[in-house]
Amino acid sequence: MAESHGRGNGAPLLEVDTVVKHFPPRRRGGAPVQAVDGVSFKLHRGETLAIVGESGCGKTTLARLLVRLEEPTEGSIRLRGREIHGGGGSDLKALRRTIQIVFQDPYASLNPRMTAGEIIAEGWEIHDGLVEKADRSSRLAELMELVGLDPGTRRLHPDLFSGGQRQRIGIARALAVQPEILVCDEPVSALDVSVQAQIINLLLTLQRKLGLAYVFIAHDLSVVRHMTDRVAVMYLGKLVEVGKTDTVFDNPLHPYSQALLSAVPSPDPRLSRSGGRIVLEGEVPSPTNPPSGCRFRTRCWKAAPICSEQVPELAARGFDHPSACHFAQPLERAPGKGDTESTGPPQPGHRPKRNGGDGNVAFA
Ligand SMILES: Nc1ncnc2c1ncn2[C@@H]1O[C@H](COP(=O)(O)OP(=O)(O)O)[C@@H](O)[C@H]1O
Ligand code: SF4
Ligand SMILES: [Mg+2]
Repeated sequence: MAESHGRGNGAPLLEVDTVVKHFPPRRRGGAPVQAVDGVSFKLHRGETLAIVGESGCGKTTLARLLVRLEEPTEGSIRLRGREIHGGGGSDLKALRRTIQIVFQDPYASLNPRMTAGEIIAEGWEIHDGLVEKADRSSRLAELMELVGLDPGTRRLHPDLFSGGQRQRIGIARALAVQPEILVCDEPVSALDVSVQAQIINLLLTLQRKLGLAYVFIAHDLSVVRHMTDRVAVMYLGKLVEVGKTDTVFDNPLHPYSQALLSAVPSPDPRLSRSGGRIVLEGEVPSPTNPPSGCRFRTRCWKAAPICSEQVPELAARGFDHPSACHFAQPLERAPGKGDTESTGPPQPGHRPKRNGGDGNVAFA
């Protein structure tokens, strides 16, 4: 596969291999919910991989699979070559410690009956031997300072902290067990805009200091562009495009990525000249009954008969990064004043619908 990763060329730290998570039917006799359906990617030491896609496409389910809050229906997740799901024992406990999660909602994810200090230090009870009892108080103070909390507040309960401070507690809790990978599931989307940048900056600083790898799920594509090495675009349980962040943002190959990323202000003349956002029509189909072949076909302006018959595999197709589209190609330039039709391979379907950038937002 031509796609390269952001940092380091050694063996991947984490390998997600054709992972599937189907939830039981919502109603008796109904179909299972295909929340994640055959997702594969690798994560290397110290790199940041973004997962982006509309609400409901399976990002949180994927995050929970990575930290074993869900068991996969099929597939494998390997940490340094060893399967993290199934089995047990102290070895497994140590493996699991390596991947920690920061949740989206700092209000719901902290136990209101525990103090900040107890929450942060909880992992030391589970992973005893990690920090000697005699050292825990000073280590707790260090951790609180590291994430920008006053160690003097350790005996306070979460309800006395602001949203941003609570997220700092959540980050300190994750760091307490010395992970190598932090899965951040929309870590700032529940926070006031004014504190979002502070938490993003904290995560960046921590990565520099501790050499962490991040799986970073985010809604804000400007933040994704700013802080991630690679990006994986997800649609209805599947990855549709994976590549270096700049490459995918500058040159998306999959129609869904092109629509998603057209909502981000871009210096790319192809996007700015074309008049703004690509507006997708139709609803996101239900994950209980996804379209045959390509799951994006019901909203795709390039859909052709083959798209309902064959599932497009995630593959390079002669480009510098993989995408899952039978007709993958860079965004055709919409004709501007004085232009003739764009060149390039013949395309099925028609051009994407666009608005001028001041109308509907294509994505919620
Ligand atoms: N525990 C569950 N039981 C049944 N369906 C679920 C469960 N968790 C998530 N889902 C469904 O799986 C799909 C993906 O959800 P989620 O992973 O939360 O997406 P995202 O984080 O991208 O918004 C959604 O249709 C959601 O309703
Ligand atoms: S052209 Fe076909 S395969 Fe490609 S995204 Fe559209 S529907 Fe899917
Ligand atoms: Mg989510």
